[in-house]
Amino acid sequence: MICKTEAEVALMKEAATLVSKTLAEVAKELKPGITTMYIDTLCAKFVRDHKAIPSFFNYRGYPHNVCASVNDVIVHGFPNNIALKEGDIVSIDMGVILNGWHGDHAYTFILGEVSDEVKRLVRVTKESLYKGIEKATVNNRVGDIAFAIQEHTERKNGYGVVRELVGHGLGRSLHEDPQVPNFGKRGTGTKLKENLVLAIEPMINMGTKDVYTDDDGWTVRTRDGKPSVHFEHDVCVKKDKALILSDYSIIEAAEKANPNLNTNY
Ligand code: MF3
Ligand code: CO
Repeated sequence: MICKTEAEVALMKEAATLVSKTLAEVAKELKPGITTMYIDTLCAKFVRDHKAIPSFFNYRGYPHNVCASVNDVIVHGFPNNIALKEGDIVSIDMGVILNGWHGDHAYTFILGEVSDEVKRLVRVTKESLYKGIEKATVNNRVGDIAFAIQEHTERKNGYGVVRELVGHGLGRSLHEDPQVPNFGKRGTGTKLKENLVLAIEPMINMGTKDVYTDDDGWTVRTRDGKPSVHFEHDVCVKKDKALILSDYSIIEAAEKANPNLNTNY
């Protein structure tokens, strides 16, 4: 586990904020008819124009700049040339390296009208991320974060919490210790220290927690074909209250200003 200095945390906030700004660009552009490949190109250009590198490209052979996970795709969806349509839910997960430091976070967007069931899944998943973040304080344990997320999604709302994929430490590498599962027991796991930076990322299914991976070796889908939602924040552990390094407010402002996106959830 690598804890950062205050100066390093400040640099990581810049990296995380660049991801947020990139996702805000996505929020401006999203509408039925465009493709996730278009989003991939847009994001890569925006990141490079800001003197950073899209970090997912070629990570363990990943062949794109962003992960674009639509409807029953949980994470690691390949951008493609299929037009998005009204009623789709789209998670865009993006990573950058800026001045040697990683930012990595994700946001799920709703295109137009969807059922109340889908809205509730999006709302509850986002809420669970903040419930996890509330536990990211010094002397708490990873299991406290995990429990809080599982409690809100699985126990309170009956959703499926993905077991195969977890959050992680973040720094000069995309994945550092500790792993941060979205399920677990209170008071267990690694003890959190000041200035540990974590990517907390609930991946929550409307139905079964079970998943399968496409033949491409990456695309992870729900077993039952029901939708899944993914939100991710970069968070710095502090004594009383975690510091969120990524910034959803700029994404949410762009999302609200785009009439093609549904923010009424
Ligand atoms: N947020 C995801 C993760 O932390 C994205 C990684 S996609 C990959 O694992 F392409 F970089 F693998
Ligand atoms: Co991540």
